This record gives sequence, C-alpha cells and structure tokens, in this order.
Amino acid sequence: MKTLLNNPLIKGPLWALQLFTGAKSFQDNPVIGSPLLNKLGLHITRIIASHAVMNLRMWMLGTSISKADRKSYRQHGYIMKTNYLPEADFKTIEQELRHWQGKARTFHQGDTQTQRTLLDPDTLRQLPHTAKLVANRDFQRLLQYSNAHQRLPFFNIERINNGVQTNKATDPQKDMHSDTFHPTMKFWLYLDDVDEHNGPFTYIPGSNRLSKKRLKWEYQHSLSAHKHPNRLAARGSFRFSAQDCAEIDLKAPRAFTVKKNTLLIANTFGVHGRGHADPGSTRLALWGMGRTNPFIPFPGTGLKIVNQYQYKVLDWLKK
Ligand SMILES: [Fe+2]
Repeated sequence: MKTLLNNPLIKGPLWALQLFTGAKSFQDNPVIGSPLLNKLGLHITRIIASHAVMNLRMWMLGTSISKADRKSYRQHGYIMKTNYLPEADFKTIEQELRHWQGKARTFHQGDTQTQRTLLDPDTLRQLPHTAKLVANRDFQRLLQYSNAHQRLPFFNIERINNGVQTNKATDPQKDMHSDTFHPTMKFWLYLDDVDEHNGPFTYIPGSNRLSKKRLKWEYQHSLSAHKHPNRLAARGSFRFSAQDCAEIDLKAPRAFTVKKNTLLIANTFGVHGRGHADPGSTRLALWGMGRTNPFIPFPGTGLKIVNQYQYKVLDWLKK
C-alpha cells in the first residue's frame, strides 16, 4: 500500500485532492506549499472558502445554543462558562477522572509533558458521572456548534506536566500560533484551578476573525511557508510574533486564569498559546478537540453510532 502511495502517478492527484480537506502542511504537500499557486492565491482561497463553509455550518447549528454564546464565539473566538456544573456533579466527575487509571498516551513538547487518556465508549462505561456529562444535550450542543458539526469531539483526560525535562528546548505550544487555516475547536473543562503558574491557555480575543490585514499576512507567509525554519509553521501551524500581531492589529492576549469547573471552548484558528508555567506544576482537565473537513457544507448527522465508531477509526489510524 505504501509503495503504491509513493508512486508519483498516484501521489500527484492525492496531493491535489488534499486541497479539499483539512490538510495543511506546506512542507509535506508540494501543491499546498507551491509558491506559485500561493502567489496566485491558493492559500487565502482555502482560508476564505473554509471559513465560509464553517460559518454556514455554525449558523445551521446555532439555533440550539444561546445568542450570547453564539456572539461570544463569533466575535471573540471562545465561550467561557465559570461554575459550569452544579458543585456536587462537578466533584463526582473530578474524583472520577482524577483517579482513573486508564492507559494514557504520553508525549513531550519541549519541556512540557502531556498525558492524554482517551475516553472511548468502553472507558466511559466505567466512568458513569463523566458519561452522563458527555451525554448531556446542552453540553453536546455547545460542542457541536463550536465544532460546526454534529459529530462530537474526542473526549480525553488531559494532564499537563510542566518543566519535566528542563534540559529540553522551550515548549513550542508556548509560541503564539494558529492551529490551522480553518476554524477548529478545542475545549477544556478544568479540573484544577489555572493560574499564571501552571500554563494558562492564552488567546487573542477576536483573532478568530478574518480581517483584510490577517488575510494579507497569511498571503505573504504562504509564499515561503514550505521552507519556513520553524517545523510547525512549515506544516501549516503559523507562529505569530509580537510584531506580527501588531501588523494584523490584534488585541492583547488574554491568559485564562480560571477556577476549576470552568468550561472553555476556543476556535484555535485564533491566535493562542500555552502561558508561562513553573517547572513541576500541573493542570488536569477534561479535554477534547474536533476537526472536520472544512469544505463540506453538511454538518453531519450526529448519529450515536458515528460518535462511537470514530474512536474505532482513531484506534485503527494509530496502528
Ligand atoms: Fe494550538
């Protein structure tokens, strides 16, 4: 199969087809990274088209959530709800997740260690309080709206351990960046208080919106992104220096120092990063992300079987 995919006769059309998916790497896909095509406007066309489709899908799903939530997500790029769950419910979920001994996937970015435990249907059956939250329709509607899709995001227990390997380079997630070229969501239901010592999620309010200045900046960067010295930028997750933010007229970043039981949902096309953290500090959350093909105008079916089956697909892809 691999040999077949490496055949130039197959590879070329595949690269071209990827233009109609969420594929984002300028370095790995010579069509996406083509300086000529990007000079002709390929990258910004993908941005504009994907934003139009995702906005349409959000509009379709928007009637199920409050006007204030829609407005916040559209204007600022996030929805934040403090004291999200009744205290007793939150405590049972917190205990359940804090003490769950499931198999965690561990990875390092610079000196930060992230441990994620996937909450697939089998695992959720053993976590009844969390399962009840995941099945809560109001919670689901918020996630579906922000994901612009009726399919639910993947749920995980996420533990961030800061400053684990102090001899390593800085965590690249601490650079302000955009995850990809289209709207995409991540959420956290914090199980620990978050302050300036344990790496608060930091976001530039309004940076989810397309402005002329942002498009101009994206256009300029798309021309040489395939050879960008920063590996993540070359792979389509652009980094934003303070000078870039000033050029685009972005606001000051906001660090979300919040109490536990805060729900935060963010559009990570917007410019964000992980804030400062003291070595040895940690934070725990129920975390998830959703990423769908941003060019398909249909917001999915939301069928339970699809939400369950996606974990099997993920498992298969990891093999
Ligand atoms: Fe990110």
